[in-house]
Amino acid sequence: MKALRFHAAKDLRIDTVDDISPPGPGQVVVKNRYVGICGTDLHEYANGPIFIPTDPHPYTGAQGPQIMGHEFGGTVTAVGEGVSHVSVGDRVSIQPLVAPRTGEYFAERGLLNLSPVLGLVGLSYGWGGMAEAALLNDYNVYKIPDAMSEEEAALVEPTAVTVYACDRAGVSAGNSVLVTGAGPIGILALLSAKAFGATTLFVSDMNETRLKLAKDALPEVITINPAKDDLVAVIQSNTQDNLGCDIAIECVGNDKALQSCLDGVRKQGVIVATGVHPGVGKLNFFDVTFKDVTLKGSWCYPAHSWPRVMDLIASGAIPARKVVTKKIALDDAVSEGFEALLDPAGTQLKILIDLAR
Ligand SMILES: NC(=O)c1ccc[n+]([C@@H]2O[C@H](COP(=O)([O-])OP(=O)(O)OC[C@H]3O[C@@H](n4cnc5c(N)ncnc54)[C@H](O)[C@@H]3O)[C@@H](O)[C@H]2O)c1
Ligand SMILES: [Zn+2]
Repeated sequence: MKALRFHAAKDLRIDTVDDISPPGPGQVVVKNRYVGICGTDLHEYANGPIFIPTDPHPYTGAQGPQIMGHEFGGTVTAVGEGVSHVSVGDRVSIQPLVAPRTGEYFAERGLLNLSPVLGLVGLSYGWGGMAEAALLNDYNVYKIPDAMSEEEAALVEPTAVTVYACDRAGVSAGNSVLVTGAGPIGILALLSAKAFGATTLFVSDMNETRLKLAKDALPEVITINPAKDDLVAVIQSNTQDNLGCDIAIECVGNDKALQSCLDGVRKQGVIVATGVHPGVGKLNFFDVTFKDVTLKGSWCYPAHSWPRVMDLIASGAIPARKVVTKKIALDDAVSEGFEALLDPAGTQLKILIDLAR
């Protein structure tokens, strides 16, 4: 079967790999349908290997060439012995975290995202979404609600990231929320915050095309271009007593954006750093103390959040499909997908590869 595999930076190839043998106990075979190209995939393509292991992964044993794709769904074609929660023909969404589920502090709490030996389908596991099929553990496969489309099944993963960010922030009814970065994660964070009851939404980005895409997805959002606008003044003039917003969710991954969050929140506001920063950075820690803020990280999602996130999407509470700007065939993944998303003048947000094309 065909699979898009990472061999080295700027070297993704459509390879022919062996068909999947019948699943063993506790395993499921899925015929993949839609798979999203994520910022992490772009980092691997441009500068990898980063998460892709060069030595056998300590838990999954995976080693390149790696089949890409961790945001995906499809249809079950075979189940191994002991698998009872899905059957052949079920439409499913894939939760890509692979880690021990017992015998360790975080494992026993369902927090596979915090496992010391975390592996990810499509990054550090034998299979991925950018192939005609995948062999998965039973716990990675969730049947989607009838009301959910196959396209939406591929959007559960990035939405789980932003639902978790809102959980970490404690977004609730009536909140004012700033999201820095109008990429797919930023726009899904806005949609998630709205679903959680936030009533005043701000988004900052220097890229006007991205701000327009955010406005298309949520007409009520107040857009801020920090290169041109006074971010603090815009936020203060739109919040109660000009105090600043209750919550800021950082979805860029740099110091400037994190500082914007600190500048934009009110005293005792909450900041969640979802964007992955390159390392040691600068932040005005005087203000962290003086403004009495709460600063938190958020990494992936608890694995057990899948049913809840699927319901939020299927019910229409989080219209995640609004971030999809293009669907392409696997053969065009590099030229029309990865390269299009890396183009600084590009107009794409979330590109889905349709394996049925
Ligand atoms: N924590 C997690 O579990 C998790 C999961 C997925 C992605 N991420 C991270 O989330 C971040 C966003 O992902 P994405 O795919 O949306 O990225 P993206 O690169 O598509 O979007 C980032 C946006 O930020 C904008 N930007 C740059 N500097 C800015 C600034 N100072 N202020 C405001 N906007 C600015 C860019 O113009 C761009 O539109 C990345 O760092 C990614 O690695 C984290
Ligand atoms: Zn991703």
